Amino acid sequence: MKTLIEFINEKQADFPFATGELTRLLNDIGIAAKIVNREINKAGLADILGFEGSTNVQGEDQKKLDVFANDQFIKALKNGGQCCAIASEENDELITFDSELSNKGKYVVAMDPLDGSSNIEVNVSIGTIFSVYRRISEPGSCGTNADLLQPGTEMVAAGYVIYGSSTMLVYSTGNGVNGFTLDPSVGLFLLSHPEIKIPENGSIYSINEANYIHFPEGVKEYIRFCQEDDPDSGRPYTTRYIGSLVADFHRNLLRGGIYMYPGTKKRKDGKLRLLYECNPIGFLAEQAGGKASDGFRRTLGIKPESLHQRTPFFVGSSEMVEKAEYFMHYYSKDFKS
Ligand code: AHG
Ligand code: MN
Ligand code: MN
Repeated sequence: MKTLIEFINEKQADFPFATGELTRLLNDIGIAAKIVNREINKAGLADILGFEGSTNVQGEDQKKLDVFANDQFIKALKNGGQCCAIASEENDELITFDSELSNKGKYVVAMDPLDGSSNIEVNVSIGTIFSVYRRISEPGSCGTNADLLQPGTEMVAAGYVIYGSSTMLVYSTGNGVNGFTLDPSVGLFLLSHPEIKIPENGSIYSINEANYIHFPEGVKEYIRFCQEDDPDSGRPYTTRYIGSLVADFHRNLLRGGIYMYPGTKKRKDGKLRLLYECNPIGFLAEQAGGKASDGFRRTLGIKPESLHQRTPFFVGSSEMVEKAEYFMHYYSKDFKS
Protein backbone atom coordinates (compact mmCIF):
# COMPACT_ATOMS: atom_id res chain seq x y z
CA MET A 1 0.00 0.00 0.00
CA LYS A 2 1.19 3.51 -0.78
CA THR A 3 2.48 5.59 2.11
CA LEU A 4 1.61 9.25 2.65
CA ILE A 5 5.17 10.29 1.84
CA GLU A 6 5.27 8.28 -1.39
CA PHE A 7 1.90 9.70 -2.39
CA ILE A 8 2.84 13.32 -1.66
CA ASN A 9 6.11 12.93 -3.58
CA GLU A 10 4.30 11.36 -6.50
CA LYS A 11 1.78 14.22 -6.58
CA GLN A 12 4.58 16.76 -6.57
CA ALA A 13 5.65 15.40 -9.94
CA ASP A 14 2.23 16.50 -11.30
CA PHE A 15 3.23 20.15 -10.80
CA PRO A 16 6.05 20.86 -13.24
CA PHE A 17 7.45 23.88 -11.38
CA ALA A 18 7.02 22.53 -7.88
CA THR A 19 10.10 22.99 -5.74
CA GLY A 20 9.14 20.41 -3.15
CA GLU A 21 8.48 22.96 -0.42
CA LEU A 22 4.78 22.19 -0.06
CA THR A 23 5.67 18.50 -0.10
CA ARG A 24 8.06 19.00 2.79
CA LEU A 25 5.54 21.09 4.68
CA LEU A 26 2.87 18.40 4.38
CA ASN A 27 5.40 15.78 5.48
CA ASP A 28 6.19 17.86 8.56
CA ILE A 29 2.49 18.04 9.43
CA GLY A 30 2.25 14.25 9.06
CA ILE A 31 5.15 13.74 11.46
CA ALA A 32 3.72 16.12 14.07
CA ALA A 33 0.37 14.33 13.75
CA LYS A 34 2.01 11.04 14.68
CA ILE A 35 3.57 12.56 17.79
CA VAL A 36 0.26 14.10 18.84
CA ASN A 37 -1.49 10.79 18.16
CA ARG A 38 0.94 8.99 20.47
CA GLU A 39 0.23 11.43 23.27
CA ILE A 40 -3.54 11.32 22.77
CA ASN A 41 -3.46 7.53 23.03
CA LYS A 42 -1.55 7.82 26.27
CA ALA A 43 -4.14 10.24 27.67
CA GLY A 44 -6.61 7.36 27.86
CA LEU A 45 -4.15 5.17 29.70
CA ALA A 46 -3.16 7.96 32.07
CA ASP A 47 -6.82 8.49 32.89
CA ILE A 48 -7.27 4.86 33.95
CA LEU A 49 -4.29 5.17 36.27
CA GLY A 50 -5.26 8.57 37.58
CA PHE A 51 -7.46 7.82 40.56
CA GLU A 52 -6.18 10.50 42.89
CA GLY A 53 -9.28 12.70 42.86
CA SER A 54 -10.60 15.70 41.03
CA THR A 55 -7.49 17.86 41.25
CA ASN A 56 -5.32 15.10 39.85
CA VAL A 57 -2.42 15.74 37.54
CA GLN A 58 -4.21 13.84 34.77
CA GLY A 59 -6.91 16.50 34.57
CA GLU A 60 -4.23 19.10 33.99
CA ASP A 61 -2.41 16.87 31.55
CA GLN A 62 -5.51 16.44 29.49
CA LYS A 63 -6.07 20.14 29.27
CA LYS A 64 -2.46 20.40 28.36
CA LEU A 65 -3.09 18.28 25.27
CA ASP A 66 -4.39 21.37 23.48
CA VAL A 67 -1.13 23.10 24.27
CA PHE A 68 0.93 20.01 23.53
CA ALA A 69 -0.62 19.60 20.08
CA ASN A 70 -0.15 23.30 19.39
CA ASP A 71 3.52 23.14 20.37
CA GLN A 72 4.18 20.05 18.25
CA PHE A 73 2.72 21.50 15.06
CA ILE A 74 4.44 24.85 15.62
CA LYS A 75 7.77 23.12 16.25
CA ALA A 76 7.45 20.94 13.14
CA LEU A 77 6.55 23.91 10.94
CA LYS A 78 9.27 26.07 12.45
CA ASN A 79 12.01 23.49 11.96
CA GLY A 80 10.80 22.66 8.47
CA GLY A 81 11.46 26.22 7.23
CA GLN A 82 8.72 26.28 4.58
CA CYS A 83 6.25 28.17 6.75
CA CYS A 84 6.86 31.79 7.79
CA ALA A 85 3.77 32.36 9.97
CA ILE A 86 0.99 30.45 11.71
CA ALA A 87 -2.47 31.44 12.88
CA SER A 88 -3.55 29.03 15.62
CA GLU A 89 -6.67 28.77 17.72
CA GLU A 90 -4.42 28.62 20.76
CA ASN A 91 -2.60 31.92 20.09
CA ASP A 92 -4.26 35.32 20.04
CA GLU A 93 -1.58 36.80 17.82
CA LEU A 94 0.01 35.57 14.64
CA ILE A 95 3.02 33.32 15.31
CA THR A 96 6.13 34.34 13.39
CA PHE A 97 9.66 33.01 13.66
CA ASP A 98 12.53 35.35 13.83
CA SER A 99 14.84 33.11 11.86
CA GLU A 100 16.42 33.45 8.47
CA LEU A 101 15.27 29.96 7.52
CA SER A 102 11.57 30.51 8.28
CA ASN A 103 11.48 34.03 6.88
CA LYS A 104 12.43 32.56 3.53
CA GLY A 105 9.42 30.21 3.73
CA LYS A 106 6.80 30.71 1.03
CA TYR A 107 3.82 29.43 2.99
CA VAL A 108 1.62 30.30 5.95
CA VAL A 109 -0.58 27.90 7.92
CA ALA A 110 -3.87 28.34 9.80
CA MET A 111 -4.65 25.55 12.25
CA ASP A 112 -6.84 24.25 15.01
CA PRO A 113 -4.31 21.98 16.71
CA LEU A 114 -6.91 20.07 18.72
CA ASP A 115 -10.51 20.22 17.62
CA GLY A 116 -13.28 18.82 19.78
CA SER A 117 -11.10 19.07 22.86
CA SER A 118 -14.08 18.69 25.22
CA ASN A 119 -14.09 15.06 24.02
CA ILE A 120 -10.54 14.24 25.15
CA GLU A 121 -11.46 13.05 28.63
CA VAL A 122 -14.19 10.75 27.39
CA ASN A 123 -12.32 8.82 24.70
CA VAL A 124 -14.30 10.27 21.82
CA SER A 125 -12.78 11.24 18.47
CA ILE A 126 -10.92 14.52 18.22
CA GLY A 127 -8.92 16.08 15.41
CA THR A 128 -6.45 18.58 14.03
CA ILE A 129 -7.40 20.93 11.19
CA PHE A 130 -4.94 22.79 8.98
CA SER A 131 -4.83 24.93 5.86
CA VAL A 132 -1.95 26.28 3.82
CA TYR A 133 -1.69 29.53 1.85
CA ARG A 134 1.07 31.03 -0.24
CA ARG A 135 2.28 34.19 1.49
CA ILE A 136 1.62 37.48 -0.23
CA SER A 137 4.33 39.43 1.61
CA GLU A 138 7.87 39.34 0.26
CA PRO A 139 9.94 36.34 1.42
CA GLY A 140 12.91 37.34 3.54
CA SER A 141 10.92 38.97 6.34
CA CYS A 142 8.39 37.74 8.91
CA GLY A 143 4.96 36.69 7.69
CA THR A 144 2.12 39.16 8.30
CA ASN A 145 -1.55 39.03 9.22
CA ALA A 146 -2.37 39.90 5.61
CA ASP A 147 -0.75 36.62 4.54
CA LEU A 148 -3.38 34.77 6.57
CA LEU A 149 -6.33 37.01 5.79
CA GLN A 150 -6.83 35.60 2.30
CA PRO A 151 -10.15 34.13 1.20
CA GLY A 152 -10.37 30.34 1.16
CA THR A 153 -10.36 30.39 -2.62
CA GLU A 154 -6.61 31.13 -2.39
CA MET A 155 -5.87 28.03 -0.32
CA VAL A 156 -3.22 25.70 -1.72
CA ALA A 157 -3.80 22.79 0.64
CA ALA A 158 -5.95 21.76 3.58
CA GLY A 159 -6.54 18.70 5.66
CA TYR A 160 -7.38 17.20 8.98
CA VAL A 161 -6.17 14.44 11.19
CA ILE A 162 -8.84 12.45 12.99
CA TYR A 163 -7.78 10.64 16.13
CA GLY A 164 -10.59 8.10 16.20
CA SER A 165 -11.00 4.35 16.37
CA SER A 166 -8.12 4.57 13.94
CA THR A 167 -6.08 7.67 13.16
CA MET A 168 -6.44 9.11 9.69
CA LEU A 169 -4.99 12.02 7.76
CA VAL A 170 -7.24 13.39 5.03
CA TYR A 171 -5.94 16.15 2.79
CA SER A 172 -6.24 17.91 -0.53
CA THR A 173 -3.98 20.12 -2.60
CA GLY A 174 -6.85 21.18 -4.81
CA ASN A 175 -6.93 18.04 -6.88
CA GLY A 176 -9.38 15.82 -5.03
CA VAL A 177 -9.31 14.42 -1.51
CA ASN A 178 -7.33 11.44 -0.29
CA GLY A 179 -7.37 9.68 3.07
CA PHE A 180 -4.55 7.83 4.82
CA THR A 181 -4.88 5.53 7.81
CA LEU A 182 -2.10 5.29 10.37
CA ASP A 183 -0.79 1.76 10.77
CA PRO A 184 0.48 2.01 14.34
CA SER A 185 2.59 -1.14 14.05
CA VAL A 186 4.87 0.49 11.49
CA GLY A 187 4.09 4.14 12.24
CA LEU A 188 3.11 4.96 8.66
CA PHE A 189 0.09 6.65 7.12
CA LEU A 190 -1.13 4.38 4.30
CA LEU A 191 -3.42 5.36 1.47
CA SER A 192 -6.72 3.74 2.48
CA HIS A 193 -9.31 6.10 1.00
CA PRO A 194 -8.22 7.29 -2.47
CA GLU A 195 -10.23 10.00 -4.25
CA ILE A 196 -12.93 10.49 -1.66
CA LYS A 197 -16.25 11.74 -3.06
CA ILE A 198 -19.03 12.89 -0.78
CA PRO A 199 -22.48 11.55 -1.77
CA GLU A 200 -24.62 14.30 -3.34
CA ASN A 201 -27.32 13.58 -0.80
CA GLY A 202 -27.37 11.84 2.54
CA SER A 203 -29.59 10.98 5.45
CA ILE A 204 -27.61 12.39 8.38
CA TYR A 205 -27.91 15.87 9.85
CA SER A 206 -25.50 17.01 12.53
CA ILE A 207 -26.33 19.98 14.73
CA ASN A 208 -26.36 20.81 18.43
CA GLU A 209 -30.11 20.72 18.81
CA ALA A 210 -29.93 21.94 22.42
CA ASN A 211 -29.63 25.40 20.85
CA TYR A 212 -32.86 24.89 18.91
CA ILE A 213 -34.91 27.73 20.40
CA HIS A 214 -32.18 30.19 19.45
CA PHE A 215 -31.81 28.99 15.85
CA PRO A 216 -32.85 31.16 12.90
CA GLU A 217 -36.28 30.24 11.50
CA GLY A 218 -34.58 28.93 8.35
CA VAL A 219 -32.66 26.34 10.37
CA LYS A 220 -35.77 25.35 12.32
CA GLU A 221 -37.65 24.85 9.07
CA TYR A 222 -34.80 22.83 7.60
CA ILE A 223 -34.75 20.60 10.68
CA ARG A 224 -38.49 20.12 10.30
CA PHE A 225 -37.88 19.14 6.66
CA CYS A 226 -35.24 16.60 7.79
CA GLN A 227 -37.71 15.08 10.24
CA GLU A 228 -40.70 14.88 7.89
CA ASP A 229 -41.88 11.54 6.56
CA ASP A 230 -41.08 11.14 2.90
CA PRO A 231 -39.83 7.59 2.35
CA ASP A 232 -39.24 8.24 -1.37
CA SER A 233 -36.56 10.76 -0.56
CA GLY A 234 -35.20 8.92 2.47
CA ARG A 235 -36.80 11.09 5.13
CA PRO A 236 -36.97 11.23 8.05
CA TYR A 237 -33.20 11.60 8.23
CA THR A 238 -31.24 10.65 11.30
CA THR A 239 -29.20 12.85 13.68
CA ARG A 240 -25.58 12.23 14.56
CA TYR A 241 -23.66 14.82 16.57
CA ILE A 242 -20.32 14.14 18.20
CA GLY A 243 -19.29 17.68 19.04
CA SER A 244 -15.97 17.39 17.20
CA LEU A 245 -16.30 19.10 13.84
CA VAL A 246 -13.60 16.85 12.38
CA ALA A 247 -15.34 13.65 13.45
CA ASP A 248 -18.80 14.84 12.44
CA PHE A 249 -17.52 16.03 9.08
CA HIS A 250 -15.48 12.88 8.48
CA ARG A 251 -18.51 10.66 8.95
CA ASN A 252 -20.68 12.84 6.74
CA LEU A 253 -17.94 12.97 4.10
CA LEU A 254 -17.90 9.20 3.82
CA ARG A 255 -21.61 8.55 4.32
CA GLY A 256 -23.30 11.71 3.04
CA GLY A 257 -24.81 14.28 5.38
CA ILE A 258 -24.83 17.88 6.55
CA TYR A 259 -23.13 19.53 9.53
CA MET A 260 -24.53 22.85 10.73
CA TYR A 261 -23.39 25.40 13.27
CA PRO A 262 -25.68 28.35 12.56
CA GLY A 263 -25.67 31.81 14.07
CA THR A 264 -28.27 32.70 16.69
CA LYS A 265 -29.87 36.02 17.55
CA LYS A 266 -27.31 36.50 20.32
CA ARG A 267 -24.34 35.15 18.36
CA LYS A 268 -24.98 36.02 14.76
CA ASP A 269 -21.66 34.60 13.60
CA GLY A 270 -22.11 31.27 15.35
CA LYS A 271 -19.17 29.61 17.04
CA LEU A 272 -16.80 28.15 14.50
CA ARG A 273 -13.75 30.01 13.22
CA LEU A 274 -13.48 30.86 9.58
CA LEU A 275 -9.73 30.57 9.14
CA TYR A 276 -8.84 27.29 10.79
CA GLU A 277 -12.13 25.39 11.10
CA CYS A 278 -14.61 26.35 8.37
CA ASN A 279 -12.32 27.16 5.47
CA PRO A 280 -10.15 24.04 5.54
CA ILE A 281 -13.18 21.81 6.08
CA GLY A 282 -15.04 23.74 3.37
CA PHE A 283 -12.14 23.29 0.95
CA LEU A 284 -12.16 19.53 1.54
CA ALA A 285 -15.94 19.40 1.14
CA GLU A 286 -15.73 21.20 -2.20
CA GLN A 287 -12.82 19.08 -3.37
CA ALA A 288 -14.91 15.99 -2.60
CA GLY A 289 -17.86 17.40 -4.57
CA GLY A 290 -19.79 18.86 -1.62
CA LYS A 291 -20.54 22.41 -0.47
CA ALA A 292 -19.74 24.79 2.37
CA SER A 293 -21.79 27.89 3.10
CA ASP A 294 -22.62 30.46 5.77
CA GLY A 295 -26.27 29.91 4.87
CA PHE A 296 -26.21 32.43 2.03
CA ARG A 297 -22.82 32.39 0.35
CA ARG A 298 -19.86 30.16 -0.28
CA THR A 299 -17.63 30.04 2.81
CA LEU A 300 -14.42 30.04 0.77
CA GLY A 301 -15.41 33.33 -0.88
CA ILE A 302 -15.54 35.28 2.41
CA LYS A 303 -12.70 37.76 2.77
CA PRO A 304 -11.45 37.35 6.37
CA GLU A 305 -10.97 40.48 8.44
CA SER A 306 -9.40 39.00 11.54
CA LEU A 307 -7.56 35.83 12.46
CA HIS A 308 -10.17 34.48 14.85
CA GLN A 309 -13.27 35.58 12.95
CA ARG A 310 -16.34 33.34 13.32
CA THR A 311 -18.91 32.37 10.74
CA PRO A 312 -22.14 30.37 10.64
CA PHE A 313 -21.37 27.10 8.90
CA PHE A 314 -23.30 24.61 6.77
CA VAL A 315 -21.17 21.92 5.17
CA GLY A 316 -21.57 18.53 3.53
CA SER A 317 -23.51 16.89 0.71
CA SER A 318 -24.30 19.45 -1.98
CA GLU A 319 -28.06 18.84 -2.17
CA MET A 320 -28.42 19.08 1.59
CA VAL A 321 -26.45 22.32 1.88
CA GLU A 322 -28.45 23.80 -1.00
CA LYS A 323 -31.68 22.84 0.75
CA ALA A 324 -30.55 24.44 4.00
CA GLU A 325 -29.57 27.59 2.05
CA TYR A 326 -33.01 27.63 0.47
CA PHE A 327 -34.68 27.65 3.89
CA MET A 328 -32.28 30.30 5.18
CA HIS A 329 -32.98 32.46 2.18
CA TYR A 330 -36.71 32.02 2.53
CA TYR A 331 -37.14 32.41 6.31
CA SER A 332 -34.01 34.07 7.68
CA LYS A 333 -32.91 36.87 5.38
CA ASP A 334 -32.25 38.92 8.53
CA PHE A 335 -29.26 36.63 9.20
CA LYS A 336 -27.57 37.53 5.93
CA SER A 337 -24.32 39.40 6.53
P1 AHG B 1 -12.54 23.26 19.75
O1 AHG B 1 -12.43 22.03 20.58
O2 AHG B 1 -11.37 23.43 18.82
O3 AHG B 1 -12.78 24.51 20.56
O4 AHG B 1 -13.77 23.12 18.73
C1 AHG B 1 -15.02 22.64 19.10
C2 AHG B 1 -16.01 22.99 18.05
C3 AHG B 1 -16.28 21.91 17.02
O5 AHG B 1 -15.32 20.95 16.87
C4 AHG B 1 -17.57 21.30 17.47
O6 AHG B 1 -18.31 20.79 16.41
C5 AHG B 1 -18.27 22.42 18.16
O7 AHG B 1 -17.26 23.25 18.67
C6 AHG B 1 -19.13 21.92 19.28
O8 AHG B 1 -19.77 22.98 19.85
P2 AHG B 1 -21.05 22.78 20.81
O9 AHG B 1 -20.52 22.09 22.04
O10 AHG B 1 -21.52 24.16 21.06
O11 AHG B 1 -22.04 21.94 20.07
MN1 MN C 1 -12.20 23.44 16.89
MN1 MN D 1 -9.25 23.55 19.21
